[in-house]
Amino acid sequence: MLTPEFRDRSRDVIASTGSRLGQILHVSTDLRLVNPNDIDDLVKLDEACFEDLYYDADEFRNELSIPSSYGIVLCTAPGTVYGGKRVPLIGSDKRVLIAYVMGHEDNDGPAPLRPIAELSGKGAYIVSFAVHPKIQKRGIGIGLMACFEELSRMQAMNYLRLHTRTADNPESNGAYQAFRKMGFDLTGTLKDHYDKGDDACEVVKQLGQSAAR
Ligand SMILES: CC(C)(COP(=O)(O)OP(=O)(O)OC[C@H]1O[C@@H](n2cnc3c(N)ncnc32)[C@H](O)[C@@H]1OP(=O)(O)O)[C@@H](O)C(=O)NCCC(=O)NCCS
Repeated sequence: MLTPEFRDRSRDVIASTGSRLGQILHVSTDLRLVNPNDIDDLVKLDEACFEDLYYDADEFRNELSIPSSYGIVLCTAPGTVYGGKRVPLIGSDKRVLIAYVMGHEDNDGPAPLRPIAELSGKGAYIVSFAVHPKIQKRGIGIGLMACFEELSRMQAMNYLRLHTRTADNPESNGAYQAFRKMGFDLTGTLKDHYDKGDDACEVVKQLGQSAAR
């Protein structure tokens, strides 16, 4: 359960990231903590971002019911103009969810594929992270991840860990390359990690002190 103190402390970093991401897209955006009212829009965004590996509403509901769950969603007005082009996006007529990242305290402990001595203490497991395909490769993912890192440091997390789908060669996976740019290191690959038999690679990032401190 997110404490009122965390919500208070997170407000500034979320607001400043939100306005920076809005400047990248040349629109007014609203970055905020995720909540269960976002589930329908999260499912729609996942359908647009992932091939057949997206979460359904029950999976998001389960994730958000984990007491240590936290995440951020980036929203903007529908039919927004991106760089001069009017791009119909997704969501209700009131707001459009265009990117998110969410996770929870890493119950498995330090990354199983990495020597425990290198990753100790409390960490976060990122369950999902997506940016709408129409606005990818513009710095939105890197900005969202930096904000999620800061929120994780506020909760005394020492590292971030996640899995992403991979073929034999992770280097051929765009998301893997994005995570490398975000400072994650590959710890290894897991055979048949996903329900449909796809392999995954695991990446981790050790969280140092915030540059802002
Ligand atoms: C992974 C993802 C969230 C990245 O979001 P994004 O907004 O496109 O990322 P950014 O624009 O901030 O890119 C960050 C860096 O990664 C690089 N990058 C992003 N996508 C890339 C790709 N497909 N191939 C190669 N490099 C890529 C960018 O060039 C950038 O590097 P730079 O700073 O040197 O220019 C987005 O591609 C996505 O939603 N993918 C589908 C869902 C998914 O696979 N999620 C991850 C598993 S949970």
